[in-house]
Amino acid sequence: MKAAEIRESYLSFFEGKGCHRLPSSSLIPDDPSLLLTSAGMVQFKPVFLGLRDLGFTRATTCQKCARTTDIDIIGTTGRHHSFFEMLGNFSFGDYFKSEACAWAYEYSTQVLKLDINRLWFSIYEDDDEAEAIWRDEVGVPQDRIVRMGAKDNFWSAGPTGPCGPCSELYYDQGPEVGCGSADCAPGCDCDRFLEYWNLVFMQYDRAEDGTLTPLPKQNIDTGMGLERVAAIMQGVHSNFETDSLRGIMQCAEEITGATYGVDEKTDTSLRIITDHARAVTFLISDGVLPSNEGRGYVLRRILRRAVRHGRLLGVEKPFLQLLIDQVVTRMGDAYPEVVEHHDLVRRIVASEEERFGATLRQGLVFLGEAIDDTKSGGGSVLDGIMAFALHDTYGFPYELTVEIAAEAGLEVDKATFDVEMAAQRDRARAAVKDDSWSAFGHAFGEVAKLIGGEVEFVGYGADAADAVVVGIVVDGATVERLEAGASGDIVLNTTPFYGEQGGQVGDQGLIALGDARFTVSDTRIPMRGLISHAGTLEGGALAVGDKVHAAIDVERRERIRRNHTATHILHWALRKVLGEHVHQSGSFVTPDRLRFDFTHFEAPDADQLSRIERLANAKIMENHPVRNYETSLVTAREMGVTALFGEKYGEIVRVLEVGNFSKELCGGTHVGRSSEIGMVKIISEGSVGANLRRIEAVTSFGALEYVYTEEALITEAATTLKCRPAEVSEKVAGLARRLKETESALAEAKRLRGSSDLEKYLAGRVDIGYPLVVTDVPDMDMAALRDFVDALRQHMGGGAVVAASGNQGGGAVLIAAGDVKAVSAGFDAAAIIREAAPFIAGRGGGKPAMAQAGGDDVAGIGAALASARRLLGVE
Ligand code: ALA
Repeated sequence: MKAAEIRESYLSFFEGKGCHRLPSSSLIPDDPSLLLTSAGMVQFKPVFLGLRDLGFTRATTCQKCARTTDIDIIGTTGRHHSFFEMLGNFSFGDYFKSEACAWAYEYSTQVLKLDINRLWFSIYEDDDEAEAIWRDEVGVPQDRIVRMGAKDNFWSAGPTGPCGPCSELYYDQGPEVGCGSADCAPGCDCDRFLEYWNLVFMQYDRAEDGTLTPLPKQNIDTGMGLERVAAIMQGVHSNFETDSLRGIMQCAEEITGATYGVDEKTDTSLRIITDHARAVTFLISDGVLPSNEGRGYVLRRILRRAVRHGRLLGVEKPFLQLLIDQVVTRMGDAYPEVVEHHDLVRRIVASEEERFGATLRQGLVFLGEAIDDTKSGGGSVLDGIMAFALHDTYGFPYELTVEIAAEAGLEVDKATFDVEMAAQRDRARAAVKDDSWSAFGHAFGEVAKLIGGEVEFVGYGADAADAVVVGIVVDGATVERLEAGASGDIVLNTTPFYGEQGGQVGDQGLIALGDARFTVSDTRIPMRGLISHAGTLEGGALAVGDKVHAAIDVERRERIRRNHTATHILHWALRKVLGEHVHQSGSFVTPDRLRFDFTHFEAPDADQLSRIERLANAKIMENHPVRNYETSLVTAREMGVTALFGEKYGEIVRVLEVGNFSKELCGGTHVGRSSEIGMVKIISEGSVGANLRRIEAVTSFGALEYVYTEEALITEAATTLKCRPAEVSEKVAGLARRLKETESALAEAKRLRGSSDLEKYLAGRVDIGYPLVVTDVPDMDMAALRDFVDALRQHMGGGAVVAASGNQGGGAVLIAAGDVKAVSAGFDAAAIIREAAPFIAGRGGGKPAMAQAGGDDVAGIGAALASARRLLGVE
């Protein structure tokens, strides 16, 4: 069975068990506690916690997953990946252990037709119930059931949240695979017993202090590794030899000229390149861009690791793009997003690779210096901290450092390196495990449970509404009442306040009841379906159940509306002028200005920016109607509506159209007709990262203010220049011209003064068949000394000069030059420099007529010139 067939057979098998087939969610999770989507259950976390109801209780997915906490293992085995596909079936308070086990067995033995004699089953150490199910209900022989501890058989997605004991299915690949040791058994680190399916009996919610609270319902979360099952089904012992991955690895072999299966080190590099090419393609396609933090950094590390291993196999040129093409060809059918973003992924990878090439070179210099320092200090071991810095800053693999150090006769302090690596891993884990189901999330979770539905947003049409207070949260806890002077978050059953999302800031305004006045400073969406108003109660008191009047700051919202619609129009104009590769990667719409980040590979020039702005303003003035409507995501995609890069959408989406030229999925608030924007003015453009540009713009009154300010500046300049505003530019150009003339006149004057100095040096002239001056001059660099030597020779009307100078930078420079007459009389500039350079600890060279050297030792200038005199016989 090919990977694609396994995927389909699994999903349809579980559809047959009443599970809803759902698409994979993005690799960027909706959950701030996780850096990347690492399991099929991630998109269902709130459902397990009882915070969200999907309207059905069984699901099945094939989930794109990324796991990189133990990135160093990836490539050294045939079964670990930074990107992989997880097939899952899920029960939300519906079926439980019996069905989960029975169906896993049925699918394994009836559909995959795995050899029963090769299957093993692990259970959590005290889970007698699971043992009984496997043995008595499914019919597994007792000796195939092994008990394991929490490390292997208690599963959670993080330190807190839904979790439970689990049971795993193993496939014995045979004694010829793996470590071969007598006590090798399921759970061994080697490749023999392949864990291919994990069944989690999700029944607890773990709190920060470690206590387990039973979840409202008992759930099932299972994960089967597609690549591992493909390996079993295709009779190979490594995931990298399965149909889909083997093809990508073949491409890696072609590029590097290496052959898989000959040498373990080479194989590791090939596996790394193959695995990482998939991760890079999928991460970028889901909207992750390389950066120095968070998931952007994860991407960058993976990408660099792949490049480095390319280098280890001798590839000096950028090569990742070719592998990206392979990934897209092989996986595009199942994941259209990689086809859609193919071009973008290629361009981002190309420029990252190029940048890394430079870092790699710098790293080699750094390492060279570290080696020199160690050796000159008499040491024979390179500091482990150095090796770690190379790894961390320059992306050097430890083995590369060891290899280069060995060439210089040094060992590397591995113990220190390991300590530093472990500390870094802990830091990475701590960063990943930053917990979102903190008190704050839980408090809003409680509110959500209480209201048992979603807050109604009426702010597309209304500026004010009567509503009921349904929840109050203060300092991460729900309270019943808010007193005058207190700050907190208020949740209403219905609200005209827009909660910050999709780049549009939250509304401000007032929630009032009698003398109770709660000023809203920000509106947020703490979890899907909830809108909370953050603010302070100025007077009176408010309690849950109170009927209040909620009114937004209308004037502020107006300005936000104009900026938001202008953002869409600018997006359209950017693509029109710069090209279709422009994708929005972020935006921020406030009342005062709008910010728009987009992918583009160089700075737009002034002409392009002006065209973008003019085009956008033309559309504004054409007074196009702005419409919105809801439709299905599928229909919207068919209509060619722009979906934002890296954004996740539900099945029903809101389309925002400006005229018939701009169609975007957007939940924000907008003007009714484009002319309400007045005008848009771009006020800045710059880079905000690799291949990422940012423009900032203002509209309507903001644009007007901008124009007034610019006008005032010009008027002020005109006053200073004593001319009319229209003449400022001409006047400044005239001034610049005059400044330049003055500067060159000044330089000429200095030169003339310098030539009078020449007379001083000519005093030391001797005649040895041609005129010769050997002298030192103060404080010149090489260029200045060369000018000086030329000037001196011109002044003498020919002959030869040997001159040296110690300059401010701390270095010494040396020049010897002679004309034809001098050279034919035996003057040899190259020989003089060869002789003299060592005295200034320098190196150099040249021809008989002209040679030069630079060195570090200024104190040696006298000796250098003396050696020249000796050679010329003029001591
Ligand atoms: N969520 C479980 C895992 O990732 C199935 O292993």
